[in-house]
Amino acid sequence: MRTLIFNIKEIVGTYSPDIHLVKGKEMKKLPSVKNAWMLLEGDSIVEIGTGTPPEHADERVDAKQGIVFPTWVDSHTHMVFAGNREGEFVDRINGMSYAEIAQRGGGILNSAEKLRRASENELIEAALHRIQGVIKTGTGVIEIKSGYGLTVDAEMKMLRVANKLKSLQPLPIKTTLLGAHALPLEFKDDKAGYLKLVCEKMIPQAASEGLAEYIDIFCEDGYFDVDDTNRVLDAGVKHGLKPKTHVNQFKSIGGVQASVDHHAISVDHLEELEDEDIDALLGSSTIPVALPLCSLFLSIPYTPARRLIQAGLPIAIASDYNPGSSPSGNMNLAVALACIKMKLNPEEAINAATINGAACLEWSHLYGALSKGRKASFFIANNIPSYSFLPYSFGENHINAVYIHGKKVV
Ligand code: NIG
Ligand code: FE
Repeated sequence: MRTLIFNIKEIVGTYSPDIHLVKGKEMKKLPSVKNAWMLLEGDSIVEIGTGTPPEHADERVDAKQGIVFPTWVDSHTHMVFAGNREGEFVDRINGMSYAEIAQRGGGILNSAEKLRRASENELIEAALHRIQGVIKTGTGVIEIKSGYGLTVDAEMKMLRVANKLKSLQPLPIKTTLLGAHALPLEFKDDKAGYLKLVCEKMIPQAASEGLAEYIDIFCEDGYFDVDDTNRVLDAGVKHGLKPKTHVNQFKSIGGVQASVDHHAISVDHLEELEDEDIDALLGSSTIPVALPLCSLFLSIPYTPARRLIQAGLPIAIASDYNPGSSPSGNMNLAVALACIKMKLNPEEAINAATINGAACLEWSHLYGALSKGRKASFFIANNIPSYSFLPYSFGENHINAVYIHGKKVV
């Protein structure tokens, strides 16, 4: 089945198939084709051209002078969770801090209590609803982490749910084990015991059952330190899981270096960043990831993206969709905040949310750009004069149609 999308004002992110990541100065360039058409065969792109479109196609779609973008690649989410934490939101409005809420047993532990009680079906229903929401705002690929179970059974339940979601909705998904997200109450005074459980039970089981491809840890004061990080990443790597870590959200304590030492695919958060962290990233293949919705929601600093780009590094942005620090998966807003608050140019922000996001999931040969051979996952934004209008008109949604794997889903 051949589908022709014609009458396109501009197709952006038309990277040639050999480009899989953009960094430093290159991030300011966004390749595009104007006055264009795009021919799809099944789930893939077969040709992009300009001027008169080919005659023969089984289906012809008039883009009505819309701008075509690769769908957003959201490389960091906690989209499987039970219940919400709007009570803590109100507590924070009234002056409590995220750390104080965690100290009184709220935060991640609050979500863990709810998740342990939820059935797989309840978790699936809730996650499907969230996924339907993010598709409408242009997301076409997601990563999902565990981390609200904090027992072997509950962590595996989360990962099973994340894996079942693959066949229940259109988005491709990659999964990450985040057993070391917080110390559960039962191990409050026995961190070594919990780490043993993570390393000797959760990691081997997640790996042998093929439930996760990546290993994550929350390396932060009050959660897990650098030694813990080394230990968990060692165990993960030994079982074939690749590191993607939560580091430098509130403090820079050496998590970046530990992650780089373990050849992490990405280091995520980085709201706090020392020069040594940048030095550690230079010369590595680890991709820094900013989570601007989390910065907005918790009123914490935005990741200093300009410093990273000026150092010649790449940057990706993701939503961090979760009940505590970012109860939104709206990547349009994340892109807008990257421009408004992190001072990225629209080209940089779009690259960060597409090709570089895909690189954080080792999928940029398939997603995050539009070229011959890549998957036909794109959205059409109508009635916008230029691609910069998308982040400029923050909070609005100009997306009229979303295609995943060549099929129209919105
Ligand atoms: O990425 N920082 C650690 N984990 C999540 C938030 C967890 C929560 O508050 O539920 C994050 O921000
Ligand atoms: Fe997170």
